Amino acid sequence: MMTTMKISRIFPALIATALLCFGLTTQAHAAKWDEKMSPDEVETLLDKKFAEGKYSSQGADSCLACHRRSEKVMDLFKGVHGAIESSKSPMAGLQCEACHGPQGTHNRGGREPMIAFGPDSSLSAEKQNSVCMSCHQDDNRMTWNNSHHDNADVSCASCHSVHTANDPILDKKTENEVCTSCHTKAKADMHKRSSHPLKWDQMTCSDCHNPHGSLSDSDLIKPTINETCYSCHAEKRGPKLWEHAPVTENCVSCHSPHGSVHDGMLKTRAPQLCQQCHASDGHASNAYLGNTGMGSNVNDNAFTGGRSCLNCHNQIHGSNHPSGKLLQR
Ligand code: HEC
Ligand code: HEC
Ligand code: HEC
Ligand code: HEC
Ligand code: HEC
Ligand code: HEC
Ligand code: HEC
Ligand code: HEC
Ligand code: HEC
Ligand code: HEC
Repeated sequence: MMTTMKISRIFPALIATALLCFGLTTQAHAAKWDEKMSPDEVETLLDKKFAEGKYSSQGADSCLACHRRSEKVMDLFKGVHGAIESSKSPMAGLQCEACHGPQGTHNRGGREPMIAFGPDSSLSAEKQNSVCMSCHQDDNRMTWNNSHHDNADVSCASCHSVHTANDPILDKKTENEVCTSCHTKAKADMHKRSSHPLKWDQMTCSDCHNPHGSLSDSDLIKPTINETCYSCHAEKRGPKLWEHAPVTENCVSCHSPHGSVHDGMLKTRAPQLCQQCHASDGHASNAYLGNTGMGSNVNDNAFTGGRSCLNCHNQIHGSNHPSGKLLQR
């Protein structure tokens, strides 16, 4: 099957994009590919290849003459990018060279390098990503530029694998693992006693985050933290007759979204949680002083003992009861 694959003569907008991305340097360079080249030298060579547009006449067949023994390379054909029946697939156009750039003399004496992807590539993330973006510049990646990942030079290929039947980051059962291979703090948090069911893979990071960027601070799926939480915890959304200001403002003033050692994913336990803001309010203030050496121990105190703020003020997220002003009913 593979040997009958022929490169189509449709040269899509891709080439134009690629030319723009890689510039038009024509400087010749006689480096051998097995020599250690600096990233600059690699880029210069790639620029030259793009300028000359030296695509192979055989497309994938040319590449597979040497690369077909690699199982990893061949697994491309199990995924969408190797789909030969799709008119949008790289296989309908420049085939392997749609991503790896023109062959040039990669297969001969000149031994020019190809565009390589992922963390070991000597090409900048931006240049690698421009290849992917030449086909994937759509609504879903509208805010990629200047997203946290773009700014930190994370490449598309450090999350995505394309030479595979199943890209692990697109699978709900393995997504969290890929994300937390870099985000070790989130990994530690999600295994804490009280947490979202991330560790059971019943929820994924992308339930709350858009890894391709968004208009919110932490690349959340919604413009604000609260809107993100309401997408599942709709019952916490107001308006309520009596609102508790921090709840309508920001859920994470009390909760750790990735997990916590305290029940209810709270940042800290009541009464300390409440006293961050209420230490000098009315009875709470007295109770607090009791704890600071006026003869009373926090655990003995009617107001501060254990979870006692919540024993009385149990409608902590707001109340619809006519006399619920103090969040007691
Ligand atoms: C004449 C044999 C031959 C042909 C034809 C060939 N390659 Fe290669 N390619 C190699 C060898 C050898 C290496 C180096 C392997 C290594 O370093 O482990 C290589 C390396 C690569 C790499 C890895 C580069 C890197 O820096 O990690 C890519 C990507 C690649 N080839 C793509 C292609 C594509 C796409 C084509 C077709 C346009 C192609 N090759 C055609 C022999 C060939
Ligand atoms: C020549 C065009 C082209 C290029 C270049 C390209 N893709 Fe794609 N990609 C496609 C097509 C076509 C699909 C099929 C889905 C669709 O119709 O959008 C696809 C689908 C995907 C998907 C979804 C896969 C799935 O199984 O649903 C991911 C992820 C992806 N591409 C990542 C990448 C990455 C990363 C790169 C760069 C290394 C890249 N693509 C380069 C054309 C391209
Ligand atoms: C931080 C990890 C990460 C990076 C970096 C990343 N992606 Fe994704 N991508 C994901 C996850 C997770 C999904 C599935 C969930 C979703 O769609 O939000 C996905 C889905 C996709 C899809 C299929 C669904 C869709 O949105 O169309 C495509 C195509 C895609 N990514 C392309 C890219 C391209 C192109 C880049 C580089 C510009 C890139 N991704 C960078 C994690 C990432
Ligand atoms: C959609 C873009 C895309 C297409 C099309 C594509 N590749 Fe790749 N290739 C990649 C990415 C991204 C990687 C990095 C590893 C990965 O993501 O799976 C890679 C890795 C490689 C490597 C290095 C493998 C290794 O062992 O590290 C070789 C060699 C290679 N590709 C050859 C080919 C050949 C030959 C074809 C055509 C049959 C091809 N590629 C088509 C994007 C592509
Ligand atoms: C290859 C490593 C890598 C992978 C994989 C990765 N990230 Fe990141 N991520 C980073 C880097 C680097 C930054 C920027 C530095 C930082 O803020 O930690 C970042 C930033 C972020 C931020 C913004 C942090 C802030 O400061 O507000 C979020 C949210 C995020 N990543 C979520 C994800 C999600 C969700 C996934 C999986 C879909 C993922 N990341 C996969 C490396 C990675
Ligand atoms: C329930 C929603 C939710 C889920 C699921 C989630 N996050 Fe977050 N994440 C948030 C919110 C909200 C923030 C902002 C926190 C803040 O501003 O204090 C955030 C912040 C971050 C940050 C910025 C640094 C930090 O810790 O504040 C990173 C990185 C991050 N998340 C990565 C991840 C990763 C990786 C996963 C999957 C293991 C994940 N998140 C799952 C809601 C979520
Ligand atoms: C994708 C859906 C989803 C989103 C978005 C979401 N949650 Fe959750 N949340 C859940 C699920 C599922 C549970 C577990 C319910 C259970 O175990 O009964 C949960 C449980 C909780 C709990 C109770 C934990 C416990 O131990 O009792 C808190 C607190 C919480 N979420 C806060 C938040 C906050 C804050 C946000 C926004 C940053 C948020 N959630 C966003 C789905 C979501
Ligand atoms: C002022 C602090 C505070 C803020 C702000 C806050 N919560 Fe809570 N939340 C709590 C406390 C305290 C508990 C534990 C209640 C208990 O144990 O009776 C809790 C429990 C929860 C629970 C699990 C029990 C239940 O009531 O369903 C969820 C879910 C939850 N909060 C979601 C949210 C969401 C969503 C937001 C933002 C809209 C938010 N919280 C804002 C203090 C807060
Ligand atoms: C992030 C700061 C913050 C935290 C934490 C916080 N609150 Fe509040 N709380 C406020 C603000 C602001 C108001 C509104 C005060 C006002 O309107 O005068 C308020 C109002 C109240 C009211 C109603 C008072 C009135 O006069 O209407 C009660 C009762 C209350 N909080 C109890 C608690 C309890 C119990 C906790 C701990 C579970 C807690 N709060 C945690 C900021 C906070
Ligand atoms: C035994 C029940 C009870 C406990 C426990 C309790 N409260 Fe109250 N709280 C009340 C009552 C009743 C009022 C209204 C009367 C008053 O002001 O004393 C009130 C009023 C408030 C008010 C309104 C402003 C004010 O000071 O009058 C705030 C804020 C408040 N409590 C916070 C807290 C915090 C924080 C805790 C835990 C440290 C706490 N409460 C523990 C019963 C309780």
